[in-house]
Amino acid sequence: MFLDFAPLEGMTDAIYRRVHRATFGGIRQYYMPFVSPARSLSFTNRQQFDLAPAQNAGMPAVPQVLCRDAELFADMAALLKEAGYSEVNLNLGCPSGTVTAKGKGAGMLRDPAALDRFLDQVFARSPLPVSLKTRIGFESLSEWPDLLRIFIQYPVKEWILHPRTSREHYGGSSHRRCYGQALEAAPFPVIYNGDIFTLSDYQAFCAEYPAAPGIMLGRGIAVNPALAQKIRGGEALTKDALRLFHDRLYREYLKYWPETAVVGRLHGIMAYLCQALDCPESVLRALRKSTRAEDYQEAACQVFSQGILRDEIRFTPP
Ligand SMILES: Cc1cc2nc3c(=O)[nH]c(=O)nc-3n(C[C@H](O)[C@H](O)[C@H](O)COP(=O)(O)O)c2cc1C
Repeated sequence: MFLDFAPLEGMTDAIYRRVHRATFGGIRQYYMPFVSPARSLSFTNRQQFDLAPAQNAGMPAVPQVLCRDAELFADMAALLKEAGYSEVNLNLGCPSGTVTAKGKGAGMLRDPAALDRFLDQVFARSPLPVSLKTRIGFESLSEWPDLLRIFIQYPVKEWILHPRTSREHYGGSSHRRCYGQALEAAPFPVIYNGDIFTLSDYQAFCAEYPAAPGIMLGRGIAVNPALAQKIRGGEALTKDALRLFHDRLYREYLKYWPETAVVGRLHGIMAYLCQALDCPESVLRALRKSTRAEDYQEAACQVFSQGILRDEIRFTPP
C-alpha cells in the first residue's frame, strides 16, 4: 500500500517537500497545495516559485488546482503540462467557508448536476490525466450515493477520498464505510485519506481495507515527519532527525525568504512538530512568543534540548 503526502496549504510548499524528502523516506508522491488560478493565469511570486519545474526537479510532485470553470482548469492543466507535470489534481474537498462560498472546492459538491456537467468538461478538455481529491458530501451523508455514482463514471487517474462531509470539517470520525463503497464501485484506484496518525492507525486501516491501493497522510506527517518511513519499515522518528529536519528547513527557507518571513513559516511548522515532544509549557510559550530571529533560534534550541520525544506520537487537534 503506497503512502502519499497530503497537500497542506501554508506548509508543504516546494521547500518543505524537498527538505522532507531529503530527510525522511516512505512517500510515493507529494501533492502540492492548491492553486486557484485567475482567468489571466497570472500567479503570485510564491505560487510561481512553488510550481517552477526547477524547484520540483526529481520530486514526485502533483500540482493541485481549485477551480469551478472547466475551460480555466484545462488552460491551467496545459500550462502544467508544458512545465513538465504528468498529472493534475482537482480539489473538490476544501471545506473553507471562503472557498465554498465561491462554489469551489467542496462547494462544488452542493449541486451534483452542475458537478456532473463540470466533470464532463474537465475530462473532455484536460490535456493531462486528472486525479480527484474529494469529500463525501457538502451538508450530509445523504448526498453520498449520488456523488459516488457521478465520480465513478469518469476516467479518473486516482481518487483521493476524505470520507467526511464539508460541514464536518475535521470533526468527529471519518465515515470509512463510504471509502469501502468507493473502493468497491470505482474502476480506478481509490486512495484513503483521513486520521491516520500512527503506525497502529495504519495497521488497523489495512486490516479493515486490505485491498486499498494507498493512503494519503496529512497532519500525521506534519507532527511526525518520519511516519511514512516508519510505516514502510524504516527508522522511527528520533530527536536528532527532528532537529535536523527543523534546521534544514530554516536554512533552506533563508536562501529565498527574509528572516522574519522564515520565522513566521517555522512557527506554523513547529506548531505541529512540537506535538512530537513532551516539552515544558514555558519553553513552548517562549517559542510561540518569539518574533525576532535570534529569539526564535534560542527558543527552538531550548525546545530541542529540553523536549523529550514522546513514545506515541500522534496529532491532536489544537
Ligand atoms: C493546514 C491545512 C491545509 C490544507 N491544505 C489543503 C490543500 O491545499 N489542498 C487539499 O486538497 N487539502 C488540503 N488540506 C486537507 C489535507 O490535505 C487532508 O485532506 C486533511 O488534513 C485530512 O487528512 P489527515 O487526517 O491525514 O490530516 C489541508 C489541511 C490542513 C490541516
